Order: sequence, then C-alpha cells, then structure tokens
Amino acid sequence: MLAQRVKNIAPSATLAIDAMAKQLKKEGKDVVIFGAGEPDFNTPENIKLAAKKAIDSNFTRYTPVGGIPELRNAVAAKLKRENKLDYDASEVLISCGGKHSLFNIAMAVLDKGDEAILPVPYWVSYEEMIKIAEARPVFCRTDDKFKITSKMVEEKITPRTKMLILNSPSNPSGAIANHDEIRKIAELAIEHNFYVLSDEVYEHFTYGNVKHLSIGSLNEEIKSLTILSNSVSKTYAMTGWRIGYTAGPKEIIKAMDNLQSHSTSNPTSIAQYAALEALNGPQDSVKQMVQAFDERRRFIHKRLNGVSGISCVEPEGAFYAFPDVSETGMSSMEFSSRLLDEALVAVVPGIAFGSDRHVRLSYATSIHEIERGMDRIDRWIKQKAVKIENEEI
Ligand SMILES: Cc1ncc(COP(=O)(O)O)c(C=O)c1O
Repeated sequence: MLAQRVKNIAPSATLAIDAMAKQLKKEGKDVVIFGAGEPDFNTPENIKLAAKKAIDSNFTRYTPVGGIPELRNAVAAKLKRENKLDYDASEVLISCGGKHSLFNIAMAVLDKGDEAILPVPYWVSYEEMIKIAEARPVFCRTDDKFKITSKMVEEKITPRTKMLILNSPSNPSGAIANHDEIRKIAELAIEHNFYVLSDEVYEHFTYGNVKHLSIGSLNEEIKSLTILSNSVSKTYAMTGWRIGYTAGPKEIIKAMDNLQSHSTSNPTSIAQYAALEALNGPQDSVKQMVQAFDERRRFIHKRLNGVSGISCVEPEGAFYAFPDVSETGMSSMEFSSRLLDEALVAVVPGIAFGSDRHVRLSYATSIHEIERGMDRIDRWIKQKAVKIENEEI
C-alpha cells in the first residue's frame, strides 16, 4: 500500500553502516568506526551558551518560516565576508540542516523529465533527492583525482539539463574543483542556461594550497544561476542542531519558503540563535578543528597507501579518504561488510556514492582510533592474503 515515490528510495548507506556499527558497539564489541560524516568535536561553548540564553529568553515560539531576520542577515554578511557574494537577506532561507535546504531546492527547481548532472562519486542523498523530484540524475565522470572538468560536464548537457550539482570540497572524495574548470563550468551554465547547485558544506575543510571558490562569486550572470547551499553542521560541529541555509535568486527562495511553510515551518528557534552565534562569534574553533583534521588526513592517507591492494588519492578537503580497494578482488559492499564482520572496522561501501571500486573512511575521529583501525585493516588484508595462498596450495 506504499506510494511509488517512497518504494524507489534507497536508504542512506552511510547512516545504515553507522547504525550497524553502533549496534555492534552496544553489544560490547570493540568496533572502530570510520563511517561518521560528522566532526568528533563538541559544539563550541559560546554557541551552546547562546542556545541556553535563547531558552531563558523564551525564544521558544514559531519564528518566520525562513528564519529569524538576524540569522538571515548574518548569513548574508558571512557570504559577503567569506565568499565575496552579495546577497540580500531576502535571498537567504534558513532550513532544518543542509540536507533540508538541498531537498527544498530539488523540489523547487526540478520537474519530471528534467535532468540533473551529478559528478561521480557523489554524496548519497543527491541521487535520491533528484529521483524524489521525479527528475533524472545524469552521472558524469571525474578524472583520476575525482576532479570535475568542464569537458566532462559538457558531454552530459542536453536540452533537458536543468541543473548541475557541484560539491567542492567533495563528499566522498575530498576533491576540490580546479578554479579554472569552475570558471569554464560557469560559462557552460550561462551558455546553456542551467542552474548550478553549489553545495559548500565543506568549504572550510581545505588543507593544501587549493582553496574553495564559490562559483556564484565569479560574475553576476553565474550568480543568477547559482543556488548556494551550506550549513553550520560541519563547520561548527553542530550536526545535531539542524540548521542549513540557501542563498539564491529571489523567486527560488520564495518558492522554497512556500514549500517549507507547509512542511517543517521554521527551523528550531533555539538552534537558530545558536547558529547566529556560530556565524557572528569567534571563529578559532574552526581553525583548530581544521588543523586537527589535516594531521589525521596525512596520517590516514599514508597508512592506507601502505596496505597492499589499497591505493588512495590524497584528499584535499572535507574529512574523508576514498581509497580504491578493487585490487583486493572484492566489491565495495563485500569489502565493507566483511571488514566489519571479521575485523570490526566500519567503512562505507563506495557503491553508495556511485563507485564500486572504492570505500569511504571518515577521519573525523582521533589519531589513536585511526591507528587502531588501520592496524586492523592491514592485518585483515594480510591474513586474507595468507588464506588465499593456502587455498592455492
Ligand atoms: C555533501 C553534503 N552536503 C550536505 C550535507 C548535509 O549536512 P547537514 O544536513 O547536517 O547540514 C552533508 C552531510 O553529510 C554532506 O556530506
């Protein structure tokens, strides 16, 4: 009796693996978890304090659907300060997490029969959101470092192309799009008149010389075709608070506001005040977190490349490593489920991100945990190799 709409939805593989690993942990098993897509840091004290103050001040009622004016203004100021983007508060909408922003965007912009170009590997939810909107995901290859090029995008453009999804730095690969390519992609969007959904949730998590560039900041023409999505979840270790935001053309923001008014109404009032402090308050915690992630990133990258049968491109951003495990002879699903079963290490199968050759490891966990997990993976692979040799004899 279920609607067709939900019958076709694949559950989020990242959340599923995380739940399985946490269940094993609950049963007393010593699992090392590389599944989580969230910082292991706590929300900074000043942000928590702002939320407590909001409760004590009785900011506990409905707010405007699209967020309190102070927060919309703070987002507009942040976009100007950090991204060189000029948005009015009326071109900003606050939603219940970045995921909700993205869902609203898909619902507001995509129609049945529209095509949305999705570079592979992609974050799990994009594909499902496009499908729920009854549009068609058009998968687009990336290069051997998971970077998108304008040529690759161009190959996929048809008269039905409505949108390109640009997620840089990327989940799951950690790749940061090349700035020249972003410029050329902007030219393509203008020439063929399609939107660019720029998901910038990992903008602060960049480690080398390559920095994040907001495509909408290039010129007014591309800005009018850009729908920017971001959230406070990753930057401020606020995944549970559920505050995300969109900036884009007024008519899209208005349509999303209408849609949101009939689903969630406003995001939680208290969390909005916390997000306000996150954006306006001191930013030291972001720097400290990024520094810690950089150390972990270099460590896990080195360790992964030291395991026979595994090779890993150096991630430039976000907090994920996306190694190729195809030389082990296992599919990503077999690799992940056996690794969890036999060595109590949780990773996410790459098939969920459109690549069955890879698995995703989140390094948003301590160096000690990364070391324990990597030791186990190394041992597991070596033992397996021994088993295979024995069988061959
Ligand atoms: C690429 C990407 N976009 C958006 C989100 C949504 O984050 P949130 O809904 O917590 O803001 C995530 C979370 O994992 C993500 O990886």
